[in-house]
Amino acid sequence: MACGFGACFGCAVPLADGGYLRLCVDGPVVNAAAIETALVPGSGH
Ligand code: FES
Repeated sequence: MACGFGACFGCAVPLADGGYLRLCVDGPVVNAAAIETALVPGSGH
């Protein structure tokens, strides 16, 4: 995580239905079903 306030998109995570969320402002807890886990390195899928 770089900036921590939504400016840099360094924490962007792809969503299953398109687009991204920023973990610093939209998380850190998110709905796992909404995330495109196949595109997240280390997700195990
Ligand atoms: S850390 Fe910069 S947008 Fe989240």
